[in-house]
Amino acid sequence: MKNLKIAVIGGGSSYTPELIDGFIKRAHELPVKEIYLVDIEEGKWKLDIVGELAKRMIKKAGLDTEIILTLNRKEAIKNADFVVTQIRVGGLKARAKDEIIPLKYNVIGQETTGPGGFAKAIRTIPVILDICREIEELAPNAWLINFTNPAGIVTEAILRYTNVKAIGLCNVPIGMVKMVAKILNVESSRVKIDFVGLNHLVWGQKVYVDGKDVTRRVIEELCDGASLTMKNIPDLKWDKAFLESLAMIPCPYHRYYYMMEDLIIQEKEAVSSGKGTRAEQVMKIEKELFELYKDPKLDIKPPQLEKRGGAYYSDAAVSLISAIYNDKKEIHTVNVKNNGAVSGLPNDVVIEINAVVDKTGAHAITLGELSPKIYGLIQEAKAYEQLTVEAAVTGDYGIALQALIMNPLVPSVKVAKQLLKDILNEHEEYLPQFR
Ligand code: G6P
Repeated sequence: MKNLKIAVIGGGSSYTPELIDGFIKRAHELPVKEIYLVDIEEGKWKLDIVGELAKRMIKKAGLDTEIILTLNRKEAIKNADFVVTQIRVGGLKARAKDEIIPLKYNVIGQETTGPGGFAKAIRTIPVILDICREIEELAPNAWLINFTNPAGIVTEAILRYTNVKAIGLCNVPIGMVKMVAKILNVESSRVKIDFVGLNHLVWGQKVYVDGKDVTRRVIEELCDGASLTMKNIPDLKWDKAFLESLAMIPCPYHRYYYMMEDLIIQEKEAVSSGKGTRAEQVMKIEKELFELYKDPKLDIKPPQLEKRGGAYYSDAAVSLISAIYNDKKEIHTVNVKNNGAVSGLPNDVVIEINAVVDKTGAHAITLGELSPKIYGLIQEAKAYEQLTVEAAVTGDYGIALQALIMNPLVPSVKVAKQLLKDILNEHEEYLPQFR
């Protein structure tokens, strides 16, 4: 049996124990010899702490997988079978700016959605493309599993500008399956959802339990107050008339679009009450987590990690890796090229959709035409994403402005210009392409 080499870029992330836990759970089907955790100089202290915890977890599980901690990215990538990217360019400090700048103009301030996601994308894409060049050179057969946010836009950039075999992944679809299972009180393996849309803008068109359509029942439960959200998104309840006529399941992030004013109020209140933006809250949670991780007696994924929004991300990542490695022909919800699956969108744009995964990759399942209830928003957001990728690569002011104007959450040219000015100023050190 082949011994797999995995490279995790951004290995010092507080989420890494989640990923290690995923590899431990699937050790019977994935013969992993080495996991390289790689980070940058600035993140070395985190890498050391989280890396030692990862080693203890592996030891406790009785596995002989080697965990290698390194700052040498090329060494980690060389001949890897799978590369996982989970980086945050500028760290949580930059995220806090992404969340706070838009609020000045009464616009949603969120890490991946709206202008915050735009700022994160233009900082991140050049770095990810550098990583991809190293993969092309040092591990051309590797699969890249991209978790780096905004995951859909970043994956779009990778597939447009490199030859790397990449699949974008998010925990929202798997999270929705688990939450629906809880609402219906059934095992999550019995729940199937027909997902379609873009990352953090994905709808469940139909929900099935054991093949039976239960979409209406789920909608009724949601209208009666059942919860379907992530830790990082306020659990505002859906409007009954809206949800019944939509007749689909929106993802937690849809609240930013469908309940924009309410979310802006919530975000502003969090800042004025001293609770802070989500980035500021996460800074506190991370501090707590790294204190726990330091404990030499800790040798499992601590439950406190569940305070983060990324629940089930290891399930999504490691089961996808296993589906590729074991040629499972299994259905996963991923970010891949449209390739005609949704009509009316270009073939080569990245969408989030159910796909059949085998050793040759993830193949989007064809759906044809979508309902006009969701189609327009997907097209508009996709155009924003395409322009954002172009702006990130070229550093062109005009394209960046057009991208922001196309974002469904930006109200006018005037506001787009103000936002862009602030974003370029505040993140100047991470945006050399705009100098
Ligand atoms: C959700 C999203 C992820 C995001 C995370 C943020 O799970 O799907 O893309 O990274 O939330 O969680 P955090 O705890 O960092 O706010």
